[in-house]
Amino acid sequence: MIELRSDTFTLPTPAMLEAAQTSPLGDDVWGEDPTVRRLEHKAAELMGKEAGLFVSSGTQGNLVSILSHTVRGDEVIVGDKSHIVNAEVAASAVVGGVQLRTVPNTRRGMLDLEVLQSSIRQDDIHYPPTRLICLENSHNACGGAVLTLEDMASVRDIADAAGAAVHLDGARIFNAAVALRVSASSIAEYADSVTFCLSKGLSAPIGSVVCGSGPYVDRARKYRKMLGGGMRQAGIIAGPGLVALDTMIDRLARDHENARFLGQELNAMPGVHVDLLTLQTNIVIATFDGHGRTAGEIVTGLERRGVRCAAVGPQTIRFVTHRGVDRPDIEAAVEAVRSELGVGAVAAAT
Ligand SMILES: Cc1ncc(COP(=O)(O)O)c(C=O)c1O
Repeated sequence: MIELRSDTFTLPTPAMLEAAQTSPLGDDVWGEDPTVRRLEHKAAELMGKEAGLFVSSGTQGNLVSILSHTVRGDEVIVGDKSHIVNAEVAASAVVGGVQLRTVPNTRRGMLDLEVLQSSIRQDDIHYPPTRLICLENSHNACGGAVLTLEDMASVRDIADAAGAAVHLDGARIFNAAVALRVSASSIAEYADSVTFCLSKGLSAPIGSVVCGSGPYVDRARKYRKMLGGGMRQAGIIAGPGLVALDTMIDRLARDHENARFLGQELNAMPGVHVDLLTLQTNIVIATFDGHGRTAGEIVTGLERRGVRCAAVGPQTIRFVTHRGVDRPDIEAAVEAVRSELGVGAVAAAT
């Protein structure tokens, strides 16, 4: 099977498995797991922040981040295509009692700045205070599109003028950094807090890290405990996370090249459209029109041909490249799509 549903399917490397077996351990709820401490320290360093907190998942990271910025009744601005509002089970509303207010995401995953500006609440007895603005970089539902440093800075300016904080859902921040050819810290610089995932393109089996100021991370640690996320000998999973940070960042460029190749080949097929402008990292979102079949039917057909991908809309399919698929796999996937659609080979425009 050629697995293109998500980069979360990546399996740990032999070095990660060895780290799971050999990393020194302690009780992390007591602050005594040296491997978790090393991971948190290293993550904070990479993000240019004072402190880090190892959490079980990106969803938990975003939740403790929002809880640590807000109180009940606050308003949090998010993009309408953000993972936080669409795929995190309304956690911040349920647990934190905050109101999520959406602003349209542009095609590139940016917040519409005019709408953002006009969504900032004035001081009025009727209104909840705008406490936090969340960004996502790279942007999952916008085809892995990347916000530039200028994009980040413009949202930071609006937040500063409003007295609001900025949280970055950087689940795939290293994909964004590799695409922009900048350090992750230069992206995170515009946010007060950032969550990034070890378990996606970086190939670690489990875990994410929240980074921010020392006092902020202290608050987040308490919320993590409240959510049942205080893990004991968590060095078993933090060890592979350290290997991920040491060895898996630079290779993301290959995933991006493979995604670009796949996107170009798909876009050259009749009745298939891929937005090549926003195809900047490892996610390819393709729209299939005029084949008389739904995305779900095409996905089922491709599975029979040995390719797994995900229907993310009635006519839309998502393909994600990662360490577990190399160029020959991508070429085979392209052939499988051609056969499934009954189209011949056409030279892809670059
Ligand atoms: C942008 C983004 N944020 C957060 C998450 C949540 O991560 P997790 O699946 O580890 O909870 C994901 C997962 O796909 C994501 O794509």
